[in-house]
Amino acid sequence: MTDEYLLRMQGIDKIFPGVHALDHVDLNVRAGTVHSLMGENGAGKSTLMKVLIGMYTPDDGTIVFDGREVQINDTATGLGLGISMIHQELSPVPEMTVAENIWLGREPKGALGLISRRAMNTATQELFDKWEIRISPTKLMKDLSIAQTQMVEIAKAISFDSKLIIMDEPTSAITETEVAHLHRMIDQLRSTGTAIIYITHKMDEVFKISDDITVFRDGKHVATLPASELDRDKLITLMVGRELTQMFPKLEAEIGEVILSVEHLNRGHLVRDVSFALRRGEILGFAGLMGAGRTEVLETLFGVHKADSGTITINGAPVTISQPKDAIAANMALLTEDRKLTGIMGVLSVRDNMIMAALPKYSPNGFLNRRRIEADCQAQREALALKTPSLNQLIQNLSGGNQQKVLISRWLLTLPDILMIDEPTRGIDVGAKSEIHRLMSMLAQQGKAIIMVSSEMPEVLGMSDRVVVMHEGTVSGIVERADATQERIMQLATGPDATAA
Ligand SMILES: Nc1ncnc2c1ncn2[C@@H]1O[C@H](COP(=O)(O)OP(=O)(O)OP(=O)(O)O)[C@@H](O)[C@H]1O
Ligand SMILES: [Mg+2]
Repeated sequence: MTDEYLLRMQGIDKIFPGVHALDHVDLNVRAGTVHSLMGENGAGKSTLMKVLIGMYTPDDGTIVFDGREVQINDTATGLGLGISMIHQELSPVPEMTVAENIWLGREPKGALGLISRRAMNTATQELFDKWEIRISPTKLMKDLSIAQTQMVEIAKAISFDSKLIIMDEPTSAITETEVAHLHRMIDQLRSTGTAIIYITHKMDEVFKISDDITVFRDGKHVATLPASELDRDKLITLMVGRELTQMFPKLEAEIGEVILSVEHLNRGHLVRDVSFALRRGEILGFAGLMGAGRTEVLETLFGVHKADSGTITINGAPVTISQPKDAIAANMALLTEDRKLTGIMGVLSVRDNMIMAALPKYSPNGFLNRRRIEADCQAQREALALKTPSLNQLIQNLSGGNQQKVLISRWLLTLPDILMIDEPTRGIDVGAKSEIHRLMSMLAQQGKAIIMVSSEMPEVLGMSDRVVVMHEGTVSGIVERADATQERIMQLATGPDATAA
């Protein structure tokens, strides 16, 4: 008899100090299907996948893959069996080319057994052609945007011709166009018999692509059902263990005077003649396709890159911002989209990561006010429902979504006047997402001004008072909340030519 299941994980248990990450869970995946693994931040999804690919050794449980019981003690074994994974936290080698990164450790060899750069580039180009990915194989990884890095990572996982591909939040760093692209790739893989385990916090995606859905909560298996038997509300209820009646609505805030005005800002080719004003109490959304220059605008305003030209005025006075220090002094804060490179200090505790940017505030007379630090950090921990055994935990041991929450806390604790957030709820579960939206709304009500770059249309439409739409480094339009529709924004995002027609 043939097994309809390609993968059977049974009774998998994994304990970390202070955390029962997986409590005897099962996961059965059929060949040629997309199986979504859902659950709140810290539910154990990534941990189970790391067990499956041999990165973690389980404390208990069995794995049957392709008809026989297997011991997967290292990642090479996992790959050898035909299991590859796109990791939630990307870790490309920045100095390598795209091609080198893809074939790392299994480089195509030439006649003399030497690594053939040409063969490698050709193989990459063939792979990219097949999957319609437009990135040059010879580009350096460090010159790619986060979204391009993600696409390379996806291509790499596919290049192993695996029987099972795990995708741990593959779409958290890409925009709707690339999401659609990835979904087409997934359809094609599924039709040739490949199984996909898919992890995401984006509800609409789940129902678009899943055959089966498994839900975890607090390290436990809650349910496995065909996607056709679930809807959004049922799924959320299974995930959070209670009914979550509605997403948090944006609060009305009084819009005050202009706090930040940007005129004719230029920086390289991704920031071209950008002008806009930001007012107190306002949430200004930034929409656009991948590579439109939104992140670069924020980074230039924050002094990560020096502007080539243009003026920045804060509270009516022109300011010079040539490094982040200047921006912080001007009461600005920037939450970056790439938490691994610019955000998280992995070997420091959750507490240290939280207070890092607000340190001066906590040592007014040279002494650290530990009582206030403790109180403020605990308050943040509760407000954002942070899942960690203690504030002393190393941040690198937190789940992806919980790391993001710590970074949000870090900037909230600096009490900035101007808060710039790049993809605020990337990788954040449904419950915490509405919590973060509530916090943003409250800050606006307190007279703070917020710039929010987001690739999630519902977030842009739901949270913004006005939307700045960017296209190839320029502002292609600024849309009032009342006029902001998905169509209008997509039109502007695809360029002024499309709108004129
Ligand atoms: N290396 C580790 N050391 C200690 N604790 C860990 C480690 N890896 C994960 N954990 C803990 O195990 C639990 C499950 O984490 P996991 O990363 O599997 O969650 P997740 O479901 O993938 O969440 P997210 O949606 O946020 O990515 C969390 O409480 C996390 O803090
Ligand atoms: Mg995870």
